[in-house]
Amino acid sequence: MLDISFAKPELPEDGVLVLPLAEEAELPPRAAALDKALKGALKKALAAAEFTGKNSQQASLLAPGGYKKILALGTGKPDAFKPEALGGAIAAALPREAEVAVLAENPDDAAKIAFGARLRAYRFEKYRTTQKDDEKAKLARLVVHTPGPKAASAAYEILNAVAHGVEFTRDLVTEPANVLYPAEFAERAEGLKKLGLKVDVYGLKELEKLGFGTMLSVSQGSAREPRMVVLQWHGAGHEDDGKKGGRKLKEPLAFIGKGVTFDTGGISLKPAAGMEDMKWDMAGAGAVVGAMAALAGRKAKVDAVGLVGLVENMPSGSATRPGDVVKSYSGQTVEILNTDAEGRLVLADVLYYAYERFNPKYMVDLATLTGAIITGLGHEYAGLFANNDELAAKLIAAGESVEERLWRMPLAKPGESYDKELNSPIADVKNIGSRAGGSITAAQFLQRFVGGKPWAHLDIAGMAWGAKDGALTPKGATGFGVRLLDAFARGFEG
Ligand code: BES
Ligand code: MN
Ligand code: ZN
Repeated sequence: MLDISFAKPELPEDGVLVLPLAEEAELPPRAAALDKALKGALKKALAAAEFTGKNSQQASLLAPGGYKKILALGTGKPDAFKPEALGGAIAAALPREAEVAVLAENPDDAAKIAFGARLRAYRFEKYRTTQKDDEKAKLARLVVHTPGPKAASAAYEILNAVAHGVEFTRDLVTEPANVLYPAEFAERAEGLKKLGLKVDVYGLKELEKLGFGTMLSVSQGSAREPRMVVLQWHGAGHEDDGKKGGRKLKEPLAFIGKGVTFDTGGISLKPAAGMEDMKWDMAGAGAVVGAMAALAGRKAKVDAVGLVGLVENMPSGSATRPGDVVKSYSGQTVEILNTDAEGRLVLADVLYYAYERFNPKYMVDLATLTGAIITGLGHEYAGLFANNDELAAKLIAAGESVEERLWRMPLAKPGESYDKELNSPIADVKNIGSRAGGSITAAQFLQRFVGGKPWAHLDIAGMAWGAKDGALTPKGATGFGVRLLDAFARGFEG
């Protein structure tokens, strides 16, 4: 994890220094002073590199004066400046330097630069034992020189909690399925108790007793036991209800996650090519847990609950067969025609449980639910399905604010158009429609298990894992959804 500190605005005199420079602007005062101290070498180098300050443009000076390196980083037009992205660019440009200093203009920018750098500098290296020294990323410390370093520290404290949530999610999503199976996921979630979250874990016996028939139909072929984890954050601070055990949750926000720790497809087995990707079929659950960690870590003034259904989907002699009929926690019966449409079976029970137990103001589920959403939206937007326009608008706005974007997709009312496809000849509902509109029929299936509550479903199959580096996300697990849910929750704080 990148170590962050904030220092007085004065220029450091040595080491590696990053100078953020805007487009078509005079050198800012500290850069001008530096140029003077270097007898004009900075301006000369910028001219030689045809540096104009265009966004993400770079020019470096090696060993000028007492410095090891000075890197000028273009930040584009001043009114389009994104401090987080600048932080990300620093981490991307200087992975091999152990310590880097950067100049920020104000405490708010300073905190956001640090946040962006921290997110972009994320690494998962616990299983690498033979990396050579010259292959290793080394960036360990970022010092941000800013007016108001104390204020920057205070602003960063909040972002630090969010970054921790994102990193927690990325670790879960990156772990291989032999290490991270339902019980292990649940144990790691329990570790979040130290942030003040209430965390309860439900095992096989309890889930059987509750009657989680659709969720257990997914896990029954696996040697790994299922788990459901319920995390509660009581942050709204309303009146104590008088009972022991503290305040009562009042119409909390409910976040629900698909946690398939590995999805082979079950008896409807997936093809071999690319099946390894299905270790991250728990990214929805990962995001929910990471978002709850963020809310608790920054002591958000909001009531929220996170519920994740954790299973492994395997083929075996005890696995569900296509054609089997099972009974969901809601009481509805489901004909399972394809055991690879398993995420919706997990969510059906957890959604209905969330609705019944918590009477949430809004329910939002996150799931790597369909390959079809990748066909439709690629890797730019997650699919948003909602039965409530206000909720949809709030989520879209939250997503825009953190650049985790959502695109709204259609959803029919129960009994209409897309929904009718799910009527089964033998049970109340079947778990797949025709091939057409696969992401939509998946959402329609979920809608039958939300008790008519305001609910939204985010299909994050295209967003949970990046094949390429992004501005704040090194390739691999993105942690998509954590910052989005955190920003969404912010809209409900006093
Ligand atoms: N976990 C997959 C969806 C998925 C595919 C996520 C690729 C990320 C990348 C999901 O459980 C699944 O298998 N969906 C099927 C549904 C079909 C059987 C109706 C799909 O998308 O093919
Ligand atoms: Mn599947
Ligand atoms: Zn799946």
